[in-house]
Amino acid sequence: MTQVLGIDIGGTGIKGAPVDVAKGVLTAERVKLATPHPATPDAVSGVVSELVKGLGWTGAIGVTFPGVVAAGEIRTAANLDHDWIGVNAQELFARTTGQPVTVINDADAAGIAEIRFGAGVGHRGTVLMLTLGTGIGSALFIDGTLVPNTEFGHIEIRGKDAEKRASELVREEHDLSWGKWAGRVDEYLLHMEALLSPDLIIIGGGISKKSGKFLPLLTGLRAPVVPAATLNDAGIVGAAMAAQAHA
Ligand code: BGC
Repeated sequence: MTQVLGIDIGGTGIKGAPVDVAKGVLTAERVKLATPHPATPDAVSGVVSELVKGLGWTGAIGVTFPGVVAAGEIRTAANLDHDWIGVNAQELFARTTGQPVTVINDADAAGIAEIRFGAGVGHRGTVLMLTLGTGIGSALFIDGTLVPNTEFGHIEIRGKDAEKRASELVREEHDLSWGKWAGRVDEYLLHMEALLSPDLIIIGGGISKKSGKFLPLLTGLRAPVVPAATLNDAGIVGAAMAAQAHA
């Protein structure tokens, strides 16, 4: 069995677990440490290496990051400290953990897991995965191949970044009713559908656990909208899958 440690860096928690990459399942209970604030490169890499050491892990590690990641380098960090921009996170984490590390955008990681093991299994054509959490992340697949770093959470709706209107965090912070928030999600999804004509839309992120509360309230979309099947572990599993080449 090939195992890789997957780590998912989010706005509130840094979660990790070893993953059986052939099956897409966690092989041990996941560990969650709080995301430090401010979430600077030094502080976050400190928590990541604490997590790795705590698990006694040696070997390949995949890490997600909530921003654009190109060849390990962070290009944007909308919801983490801006000091990350220009930092090669892959090199930083490899140095602090002493292990080979692969870094990938968080939504891309979740999408990879969903396409291979979750709600995207067997779906060809254009599949759009959106994660609704602290921000809105996106992963676009054409016949199973990822188009990385799509950043559709920053599409402008009513003069604002879509994630500032329709993320899970916004729902909580503004105490929006499910109906009101679902209306915003609906408007956003209709916009994305007009741009991309996806064959399937998968909703992931923290909110996927509560999909029963808002998916039935969506109207007028042609594409089926389904919750992620791997729920909150998709980031961990996808990060491990991305790092598989080094295992
Ligand atoms: C970032 C994306 C990320 C998403 C979800 C957005 O603000 O720009 O890169 O995937 O949040 O964390």
